[in-house]
Amino acid sequence: MKAPVVQGTRSGGSMETVFDLAGLHRVVTRWKAEGATIAFVPTMGNLHSGHFSLLERARELADRTIVSIFVNPIQFGKGEDYESYPSTLNKDRAGLADNDLDLLFVPDLSQLYPGGVDTDTRVIVPGLSNILCGRFRPEHFSGVATVVAKLLINTQPDVALFGEKDYQQLLVIRRVVTDLCMPIEIVGMPVIRETDGLAMSSRNAYLNMTERKKAPLIYATLQAAAQRLRRAPNQISAIEAEGMKILEAGGFRPEYFSVRRSEDLAEPSAQDKRLSILAAAWLGSARLIDNVKVLVDS
Ligand code: PAF
Repeated sequence: MKAPVVQGTRSGGSMETVFDLAGLHRVVTRWKAEGATIAFVPTMGNLHSGHFSLLERARELADRTIVSIFVNPIQFGKGEDYESYPSTLNKDRAGLADNDLDLLFVPDLSQLYPGGVDTDTRVIVPGLSNILCGRFRPEHFSGVATVVAKLLINTQPDVALFGEKDYQQLLVIRRVVTDLCMPIEIVGMPVIRETDGLAMSSRNAYLNMTERKKAPLIYATLQAAAQRLRRAPNQISAIEAEGMKILEAGGFRPEYFSVRRSEDLAEPSAQDKRLSILAAAWLGSARLIDNVKVLVDS
């Protein structure tokens, strides 16, 4: 059966959209035969400037670019926002075509989970998946690792790009690629922020006007903590406790505010210089996450 292929338009050429694996494989095989390199950006849609910054870099890194849009059920816990996750496919497609994407892959559930989601094979990254966000979202990172592994196997990119807003996710994916010996370079890209500092996220759409005004506090608190950490790297517990307190006082329900070693998110020792401060906090019905990097030199 021939895969449905839809042509979109863009200034420099035409974007193809494929909805199934057979269509994806046909395009990837053609590109590989031409000797073209491929960069891949997986997304769940509802695209914002953060996603477009990944695409821009992807275009610099490879001859051809693929973006996928797939809302992956197995990375959402019970009672989370899988059913209500915003879908803006037509707008996303227009934006991707305008930004010179080559191939958009929009699989449905049966393409990526042919045997259903309940008894499906899972990819689990031990340790890293159970800390920070993983403590509060126990199945989340195995859901991410599983779907990203499926997407990487089928898109066969030379390079794949992920935003550093989801810093723990980025490290989980690096582990998947290393541990499963995939010959793919993983590139982390800086957090893209609104003018008031709020990290761009599809979930910011859940904030009402009052909450939206409060939301930049999470980044401001991380920045203040980073300053204090540079001055006093031996005060990690106090810095973490203060971060939690400031967010609570600002109307958030914080899950964690934590100083970790950037490399692997382990608790830092006095020798560790490259640190990250990571936070997750609820504001109304939006769960916001953010992080900053800190280089301590003493
Ligand atoms: O970051 C996301 O949008 C998702 O977790 C990803 C990487 C596309 C996997 O579903």
